Amino acid sequence: MRPYIVGNWKMHGTRAMLSEARAIDRAAERLMKVEVALAPPYTLLHATRKEAALIGVGAQDCHAAEGGAHTGDISAAMLKDSGAGFVIVGHSERRADHAESDADVRAKAEAALAAGLAVIVCVGETEAQRDSGKAEAVVARQLDGSLPQGEAAAAKVTVAYEPVWAIGTGRTPTVEDIGTMHRSIRERLKAIYGEDGAALRILYGGSVKPDNAGELLAADEVGGALVGGASLTAESFLGIVAAAHEAIEA
Ligand code: PGA
Repeated sequence: MRPYIVGNWKMHGTRAMLSEARAIDRAAERLMKVEVALAPPYTLLHATRKEAALIGVGAQDCHAAEGGAHTGDISAAMLKDSGAGFVIVGHSERRADHAESDADVRAKAEAALAAGLAVIVCVGETEAQRDSGKAEAVVARQLDGSLPQGEAAAAKVTVAYEPVWAIGTGRTPTVEDIGTMHRSIRERLKAIYGEDGAALRILYGGSVKPDNAGELLAADEVGGALVGGASLTAESFLGIVAAAHEAIEA
């Protein structure tokens, strides 16, 4: 399967950063074995789509409702209209900062699918949950509660496993631990979606950098990466894309 490398710009980026998106898009042409995408903040979505011809462009969140009195919120249909092809839902920063539950995440994911967007559903345990040996159980529960339902869903869903303690910290799980978790996620996906669950991509996220990407991407059942800090410059993000490209060539 083509590896999928997605940059999550979080709350970073003004129009000055469009030059990074352009550079990433241009380089993607020689790295076609990798599917590359960026999720800039809402304010740059339309401009990024216009600047970038090859890469995917998506958003970092959406509201579950189609429209209405929700000041400050953005619906999935609006994202689609501004050029988004996908949306990330359930990122741990949304779950923590905005108290989003699994049910909220599922509602958002289903709204996104209904609007014709693909979705990246994020899951991951906290450090305390890992230390108490509950990481796999926590992630299984998040998958059960957050993934959109229905047979058609599987074709448009990507799962991102992001241990909360690895995000923005420079710490990562071992390759063995990532493999163990990804295999357990794969089993859960098959239980939820049947055979279609075998084909979904499972990304790893959390402190992915150019110098560790090759190793992390080689872990069992890792189909790509969701990248935060290292996606903010074309230079570091393309280092990760190149590592994925090499992994495919190898
Ligand atoms: P990081 O963020 O790469 O900065 O650790 C990953 C993410 O939160 O998606």
